Amino acid sequence: MSSVLPVAGAAFDLRSFNTLALPSQASGLRVLTTESEVDQAHAECLPHAAMHVLGGGSNVVLAPHIDAEIWHMAMRGIHLLDATPTHWLVQAAAGERWHHLVQHCVAAGWGGLENLALIPGTVGAAPVQNIGAYGVELAEFVDEVRAFDRRAGQWCTLAAPDCGFAYRDSVFKREPGRWVISSVVLRLPRQWQARLGYPDLGTWPEWQQHAPTPAGVFEAVCAIRRRKLPDPALLPNAGSFFKNPVVPAAVFDANRSRLQAAPHWPQADGGIKLAAGWLIEACGWKGRRLGPVGMHERHALVLVNHGGATGNDVRLLARAVQAEVRQQFGVWLEAEPVWLGFD
Ligand code: EPU
Repeated sequence: MSSVLPVAGAAFDLRSFNTLALPSQASGLRVLTTESEVDQAHAECLPHAAMHVLGGGSNVVLAPHIDAEIWHMAMRGIHLLDATPTHWLVQAAAGERWHHLVQHCVAAGWGGLENLALIPGTVGAAPVQNIGAYGVELAEFVDEVRAFDRRAGQWCTLAAPDCGFAYRDSVFKREPGRWVISSVVLRLPRQWQARLGYPDLGTWPEWQQHAPTPAGVFEAVCAIRRRKLPDPALLPNAGSFFKNPVVPAAVFDANRSRLQAAPHWPQADGGIKLAAGWLIEACGWKGRRLGPVGMHERHALVLVNHGGATGNDVRLLARAVQAEVRQQFGVWLEAEPVWLGFD
């Protein structure tokens, strides 16, 4: 049965529940391991009472005090639901570590997810921000998501089109407090094709010796990520801190003299996507600190906690970076993580 662990002074905090290692006290914490515990939590918690679901805490910024209950999803299990002539259907529980699921699938010979290796966080959090890396997004593999709808007070199964997936976005992210994801079903193609469009991956030296396999791509992605991105266990961070902004072509043209040097990619809707990491570096923020936080020295898009930071320090740095990028390039950077407990 779930239980609420009450906050008792400094004895309890959420520091170990977020990869930025920010200290934070909430009104209570429930660790939920089954769907019936979610039902129970919903029954005990007033329907409109503030609560936040937390998985691995790898895409959140926690305020020092959160006037809400935290529901930590700890359900486990990975199952092959079905094997059709064309696909494997794999169900994974919300509390599984995302990277563990990728490893499991690659080891079982079910390719598809390998480009998404080493992304921190849980399976339940993956659809919320529609995780993506190295030319692949989760959305293309989602068959359905099972979630409790706190507004309707019932369990639902959302087919992929109902999840409203977009770049680092979904209905789950747009409607905070409404959905509690318990499991995800992924549809992985039996006809595997390597996805090597991302420059570092396409030029990986191994492919000169061996044809790419899911396991080979998995190893390559892990190596590339380890080279570029700090390990949150060693240097607390939340991955990319800002989304890559998409600006209207008119804005790009108006600032062409400055923006054309930035890596940029025309989008189907006519907008231009810009590399936020490049913009931040061009503003001199790569490796620079503000108090106990800073932008990482190898990747300017990753905000890191050098030790002892609070959510307020993170907010100050995020605002400083946003202001400078806007001033220099006329482009607004939207933060990628969810802010919990801030005004
Ligand atoms: N760049 C710089 N300076 C930097 C960082 C990047 O000039 O300090 C340039 C790079 O040289 C490159 C471009 O910016 O030309 C893009 O950089 P990178 O390939 O590292 O990818 P990204 O756009 O910064 C995105 C995702 C990452 C994902 C990588 C690889 C977003 C917000 N981030 O980063 O996702 O791993 O592509 O596909 O879309 C995450 O979401 O937490 C995350 C790590």
